[in-house]
Amino acid sequence: MTGGRTCLAIVLAAGDGTRMLSSQPKVLHQIAGRSLLAHVMTCLREAGGMASAVVVAPDHSGVAAEVKANTPDAEIFVQTERRGTAHAVLAAAAAIAKGFDDVLVVFGDTPLIRTSTLDTLRGALSKGAAVAVLGFRAADPTGYGRLVTKGEDLIAIVEHADASEAERAIDLCNAGLMAFAGAHALEVLRKIGNGNRKGEFYLTDAVAIARDLGLKTVALEVMEDEVSGINSKAQLAAAEAQIQQRLRQAALEAGVTLVAPDTVYLAADTKLGRDVVVEPFVVFGPGVTVEAGATIRSFSHLTGAHVGKDAIVGPYARLRPGAKLGEKVHIGNFVEVKEAVIEAGAKANHLAYIGDARVGEGANIGAGTITCNYDSVSKHRTDIGKGAFIGSNSALVAPVKIGDGAYIGSGSVITRDVPAGALALERAQQVVKEGWVKRLRSLKTMGKKAGQASE
Ligand code: UD1
Ligand code: MG
Repeated sequence: MTGGRTCLAIVLAAGDGTRMLSSQPKVLHQIAGRSLLAHVMTCLREAGGMASAVVVAPDHSGVAAEVKANTPDAEIFVQTERRGTAHAVLAAAAAIAKGFDDVLVVFGDTPLIRTSTLDTLRGALSKGAAVAVLGFRAADPTGYGRLVTKGEDLIAIVEHADASEAERAIDLCNAGLMAFAGAHALEVLRKIGNGNRKGEFYLTDAVAIARDLGLKTVALEVMEDEVSGINSKAQLAAAEAQIQQRLRQAALEAGVTLVAPDTVYLAADTKLGRDVVVEPFVVFGPGVTVEAGATIRSFSHLTGAHVGKDAIVGPYARLRPGAKLGEKVHIGNFVEVKEAVIEAGAKANHLAYIGDARVGEGANIGAGTITCNYDSVSKHRTDIGKGAFIGSNSALVAPVKIGDGAYIGSGSVITRDVPAGALALERAQQVVKEGWVKRLRSLKTMGKKAGQASE
């Protein structure tokens, strides 16, 4: 709360996002492993002390589900027809009517906003403005509403489609974030009409209407990178680039070594400890924590995984959700780990699949080891004891348990539990035929077929 004032944040998320050319609602597209809407909702939660209302389209149940997953106490309102941004805000009229000091309107397609931006807007209300609008100088203002100012005053916002040549020359653009003094919000919003080129109810008309009512309206300038709105896949890619820059910078400032920062892709919630080294070309999906001193080598891909202190992952490793690596674990090239706990000091250095498993402390998983966790109907677990040694190219058919310190001979298909300290071996006995090659060759030179030579 700013200065004890109550606040309602209305998030508009009912747009169809036609220019995205996608079957998915626009606000569910992702940057840094998180939907555009979840970025906005997370910012509102971090700002703290405000109620939130999200306006969604009737056919976008996925959007409502995303809101609930991120901010369970947000109220959801349905905009039955898509008739413009002011019409969308009024879908949440019941929330506004509860009476708040400040009413913020935030677009679900503006994911790079910061809590400080919200404070700036609310600060203007506390100084007496009835409507405060965020503006930025756009490198390319095409498509944005233009802020018409006179000295310090904001006179009006003109949408690109309705703007004159002179107005289009203005490079101060509407960022889309607006704040209304709660006492006037409904009165102003209800006066907005749809007599414009698109026949939509434009939220931006609130400025001229508020001025007609003798109210104070102000524009506050912020940097473009905070408020870029996403209407196309190209803008989505540009926002991804921007958020990656931010996340990489934050990681470097937290003591992480990124050898080639521009080649590392982070998720918004990636947590990297001090002295973590990330080599070039590593991708972090959502839900990854890497503890201090661990090294993530090139071309590794991690999602939903925990990497313990001083562990080494990669190159070319894949950690999938539920991979939990203890201290000093080594997961090497072409090793995939899913839903498995790898305890301290255990190693799987080459070409393995470990899924639905526990690998005990200090165990060694040989090259080509596979936990056969799926029988085409259900998943089963493999439990490998402390210090066990799994010979190369073994298949462990789950459910199966390998006791502490047990050995599995290379190439075995293990279908039954192996007690601690035992050797389990499953392969045909080796046959050796002394001098066989020489006999074969002499038979061949005699013009006989190899088939006849074999016995
Ligand atoms: C809007 C602003 C423009 C500003 C730009 C900044 C208006 C009229 N125009 O244009 O001045 O420069 O954002 O990015 O406000 N939405 C609904 N229901 C609707 C229409 C839109 O929920 O009926 C939502 C969309 O999901 C989106 C947001 O409102 O999150 C903005 O709509 P969008 O169509 O992207 O507006 P812009 O053309 O970008
Ligand atoms: Mg937009």
